[in-house]
Amino acid sequence: MNRFHILTLFTQQVEYYFKHSILKRAIENKIISVDAIDMRDYAVNEYGKVDDTLYGGGTGMLIQCQPVFDAYNSIALNSSTGEKPYVVYMSPKGSLFDQKKAKELSKRKDLVIICGHYEGIDDRVISTIVDEQISIGDYVLTGGEVAACVIVDSISRMIPNVLPNEEAYMNESHMNDTLEHLQYTKPEVWKGKRVPQVLLSGDFAKIDEFNKTVALCETWSKRPDMLEKKALSTEEWQKMLEYKKSI
Ligand code: ADE
Repeated sequence: MNRFHILTLFTQQVEYYFKHSILKRAIENKIISVDAIDMRDYAVNEYGKVDDTLYGGGTGMLIQCQPVFDAYNSIALNSSTGEKPYVVYMSPKGSLFDQKKAKELSKRKDLVIICGHYEGIDDRVISTIVDEQISIGDYVLTGGEVAACVIVDSISRMIPNVLPNEEAYMNESHMNDTLEHLQYTKPEVWKGKRVPQVLLSGDFAKIDEFNKTVALCETWSKRPDMLEKKALSTEEWQKMLEYKKSI
């Protein structure tokens, strides 16, 4: 089982998301677990206050070291594997999250994800327990919870048996450094737009080749930067040009 432990001040935000997600089935089947740990339970004063003003001045409040450290220890010291859990801090300063990172993190059995709020967290606890800082994009959110849900969702899909069949994610966007090909369902003709004939042919080798070409064209038009990393053959370019001409 892969266990996600989310350290937060807003447990309900996280719990609500997973209660109403397709991942609920994987949680019920004990393939993954997602626990939201309230850092307020580890406050060092009796009022449940976990933040304080900044040394050196500045606006806003910062989450103190001890509640974060104690909340982390509640997991680390009770680890069933005896290993130190891998710790991620959600922060706009972190490295950008992508599908490769999702795959990599899906190998971690215990993943602790710390969500900051207000101005963030005292740097001393970050440098003590955090293995990696992760950002979900170059913008600033009010807290790390949404970002934590984003990464847990995407990591979980990479874990065997979470999705009904692995194929569901093997062909999807970003898996092969391309975007996914276009897809169609019934009816065959809608508002005069016809489904490409090859998809009705039953010739799976041809369909596969066609879908690969469409995936490259999609990437070329929507995310040309992704193709820069790929060395396309003359044949692939030719097929793409043929497809472009046919539409
Ligand atoms: N917390 C605030 N902004 C964030 C971002 N862009 N990514 C991850 N965590 C964040």
